[in-house]
Amino acid sequence: MENYDCRTLLDSASIEEGICALAGRLQPNLEGDEVTVVPILGGAMFFAADLVRHMPAGLVMDFLRIQTYGDSTSPQKSASADWLPNEKNIRGKHVLLLDDILDTGRTLHEARRLLLDDMGATKVTIAVFVDKPIRRQTDVVADDSVLLLHDDLFLVGYGLDLAGRYRNLTELVALKPHEVEDGVISEAVAE
Ligand code: IMP
Ligand code: MG
Repeated sequence: MENYDCRTLLDSASIEEGICALAGRLQPNLEGDEVTVVPILGGAMFFAADLVRHMPAGLVMDFLRIQTYGDSTSPQKSASADWLPNEKNIRGKHVLLLDDILDTGRTLHEARRLLLDDMGATKVTIAVFVDKPIRRQTDVVADDSVLLLHDDLFLVGYGLDLAGRYRNLTELVALKPHEVEDGVISEAVAE
């Protein structure tokens, strides 16, 4: 990260506190249902691993991969799945769908459609680590999030990547606004 001018939005203690509180808020909505937790790979892996360990035993986990970004910081036109959960874990279940960030909404719009329409989930609840509504282009709404971010910042760490890197940072870091124009990291910074 030495070439990047950045600032920490959430340190690891705040992340842990936020995840624990989120698990508590989600619980009443999930109680009594057969729940399958579906993280979207790979950004949601850290968020999901920490969240489910604050939830009661007995839930099932399965995984979905939907690509929207490739190696760039600007979204491609459409989102498509290239790894699906096993249908027996989805049909007739209440799915808790998890992603690292809800940005334009293309990824979660496609994920929700696929789980409800194609795979027969009875209900989909969406929880994201970061909800960033400023660039929303679809009707997807997160049921809950750890952080509601009103600024248009590009974030890395705790699963969020920049061209595949920095997912393993333990903190959530924002790149300063001057480094990101129209969702693209300026060349001077990206070198
Ligand atoms: P959406 O489809 O535009 O909502 O974007 C969802 C995906 O875009 C996320 O799963 C991330 O992989 C990526 N993304 C969106 N905003 C950011 C960001 O600020 N940092 C890193 N990845 C992001
Ligand atoms: Mg990503």
